[in-house]
Amino acid sequence: MNLQLEEKISTNTFKKDILEGLHFNPKKLSSKYFYDKTGDRLFQSIMEMPEYYLTKCELDIFKNKTADLAKLLLQDSEPFDLIELGAGDASKSSYLLKFLVKNNKDFTYMPIDISGNILDVLKEHLEQKIPDLNIECLEGEYFEMLNKATALSSRKKIVLFLGSNIGNMEMDEAQDFCIALRKNLSENDIVLMGFDLKKNPQIILDAYNDKEGLTAAFNLNLLTRINRELNADFRLDNFQHYQNYNPETGACRSYLISLCDQNVSIEGEMFTFKENEWIDMEISQKFSEDDIQHLIQAAGFSFIGEIKDSKNWFVDSVFQVQ
Ligand code: AVI
Repeated sequence: MNLQLEEKISTNTFKKDILEGLHFNPKKLSSKYFYDKTGDRLFQSIMEMPEYYLTKCELDIFKNKTADLAKLLLQDSEPFDLIELGAGDASKSSYLLKFLVKNNKDFTYMPIDISGNILDVLKEHLEQKIPDLNIECLEGEYFEMLNKATALSSRKKIVLFLGSNIGNMEMDEAQDFCIALRKNLSENDIVLMGFDLKKNPQIILDAYNDKEGLTAAFNLNLLTRINRELNADFRLDNFQHYQNYNPETGACRSYLISLCDQNVSIEGEMFTFKENEWIDMEISQKFSEDDIQHLIQAAGFSFIGEIKDSKNWFVDSVFQVQ
C-alpha cells in the first residue's frame, strides 16, 4: 500500500472514531489518540514528573531485580523470541536485554511498534548499547505483528506488555485483549504484563492531577489535534481538565469539562456542549491482586509469579499459556 493511501485510511479511522465518540451520550474520546508529536513530548515530561511514580517503579523492577525477572521468564534453556508490545525507547527492557545477552541466552528481541521512526531510533540505540543483541523490528499493529513473529520463527515466545498500558482499557476491553493475546500465542508461551496496583488514593490522584498542568495539557492536546486534523474550532480555554479516582473500582478517569454552553464545528458538523457537560477522555485502571488473577485466568493463562517494586506500588506479573 502506498504511503498516501495509508495516511488517508488512518485519517479516516481517526475522523470516524472522533465523530462517533462525540455522538455518544456522555461524549467520549479515545486516549489512544493523545500521542501525536506534542502528545509524545508531553507524555515524556509526565514520566519525568516526581508525582508520576509508574515509570520509576517499573524501572526499579527492571534495573534492580533483573536476575529475578529473568529467572521467572526462563524456566528452561530453550531458545526464544522476546517480543515487546509498544516498545518505545525500551528504557526499562534494555536492562533485561543486557542481562540476557551477558548470560549468553539464545534469543531474538522483537520490538513491535506502530511507529517505524521509533523503531529505527531504538534499533540504532540498542545496537550501540548492546552490540551482541539480535534484533528484528516489527512495525505495525500488535496482533498483526505477533502473527508475523510466529510466521518468522517457531521458537517459544515471551511477550512483554509494560507500563500498565493495559490500564488504558476499560476492564471488559482488557479482558478481550488478554483473550486475543492468548489466541495469538501457543502452549507454554509466556507473558510479562505490568500493572499499576491500587494504593493510597491521594498518591494516585496526585500522579494524574499534577500542579504543573502537564496531564491537563496532555488531555487538551487532543482537542488541538482535532482542530488541526479535522478542521474543528474547539476553544481550549472553554474546557477544563478534571481528574477523579474511585478507590472502590480502581478507575482513575480524566474528563474535559465544558465551561459554558457552546457549539463546536468539526468537519462541518456542529456539536453542542452544555455548561458542565463532560467528555470522557481516559481511564488509567488500578488493579488489585484479585483483579489480575481473574483477568489472566479468564483468558486461559496460568500464573507463574510476580515481582513488585520496592514500594509495592507496581507489579510485573508473569503468566503462561495453559
Ligand atoms: C500510557 N499510560 C499507561 C499512562 C497512564 O498512566 O495511564 C498515560 C497517562 N495518562 C496520564 N498520565 C499518563
